[in-house]
Amino acid sequence: MSLTSLKVAALAGDGIGPEVMREAIRVMRAIEARFGLSFAVEQAPVGWAGIDAAGKALPDATLELCHRSDAILFGSVGLPDRDPTIPKEERPERAALLRLRKIFGLYANLRPVRLPKELAYSCPLRPERQGDGLDILVVRELTGGMYFGQPKKTEEVTENGATFKRAIDTMVYTTPEIERIAHVAFKAAQLRRRKLTSIDKANVLENGILWREVVTSVSKQYPEVALDHMFVDNAAMQLMLKPTQFDVLLCENMFGDILSDEAAALAGSLGMLPSASLGAQAAGGLTFGFYEPAGGTAPDIAGKDLANPIAQILSVSMMLRYTFGLNEAAAAIDQAVGRVISSGLRTGDIYNPLDTGSRKVGTTEIGTAIAQSIKA
Ligand code: IPM
Ligand code: MG
Repeated sequence: MSLTSLKVAALAGDGIGPEVMREAIRVMRAIEARFGLSFAVEQAPVGWAGIDAAGKALPDATLELCHRSDAILFGSVGLPDRDPTIPKEERPERAALLRLRKIFGLYANLRPVRLPKELAYSCPLRPERQGDGLDILVVRELTGGMYFGQPKKTEEVTENGATFKRAIDTMVYTTPEIERIAHVAFKAAQLRRRKLTSIDKANVLENGILWREVVTSVSKQYPEVALDHMFVDNAAMQLMLKPTQFDVLLCENMFGDILSDEAAALAGSLGMLPSASLGAQAAGGLTFGFYEPAGGTAPDIAGKDLANPIAQILSVSMMLRYTFGLNEAAAAIDQAVGRVISSGLRTGDIYNPLDTGSRKVGTTEIGTAIAQSIKA
């Protein structure tokens, strides 16, 4: 791969986005130094920052940059308290995030949840339910289901002389849509503990019946992966009761949205969890990807050097792995994060005052320590 092909659009967004992005870029510079690589990182505004800079949550120039790039490293968007009069279609969640997912066909969302042993205290479950530490991968379908199905509208209806509103969302999946996300999940499971739990609501939904049927048929191509099916309500319960039973969870869009947050809670802090959203392979063989922390903009702590940059930094690691195929460099980031956690540095979200071997630090200090540890 030529050096010039590592084109990254860095869209920091709102809230804590800019400060955690700064640390992620610091880590990329350390990776360049250690591995003799060179990233062309270009930054552009998105979210409320986009609305402020160019009147749109996804400014044309930002979208154009994304089209020219191999990967998008995304911060976070959305500030609930800002201008409630802006219509929902123009607000960052729909106008930037959902739009980017649709435009780039980012159908495969990978959300790994890991609870390192040193942070066992930040898991809300009792220690005996945590086993030897938790390690779950949620694979969420990201461009179908109720999020995008048509019709989607709110209308006024009159029945028996009464007038009221009716809101309609439509859940739609086709066989090919289920097949392609199932392949992603089975392939991920092959590289892990070879166990796949497919989530549906086949006892109620047509979509659930089709989901189960298609996943079962795809599973014939992966005989070494053990497949089981679970209703979504039971899965929500099992995640709390016995999370160690799960390796890879395969979910449609909405169930994946909900279960991935629930799974994330097990890791104690959203500040530790990266994610990848992948599309089809591009002509040059690279998989275009969108990489973002699991957490949001956290406006209450923004600009105070309190945010945990690790989710953003681990998003860089996922980008190196999935878009650029730089597995060794990705592993170097994961290991550096592990070493810094072991050394006791903690941002507030993962700090435990009873752990006397640890020290509470800010965003910049922990980011710098991770970058240093990569160079060393
Ligand atoms: C997520 C978020 C988004 C979603 C929102 C912000 C639109 O919750 O990425 O999980 O529902 O997909
Ligand atoms: Mg969500």
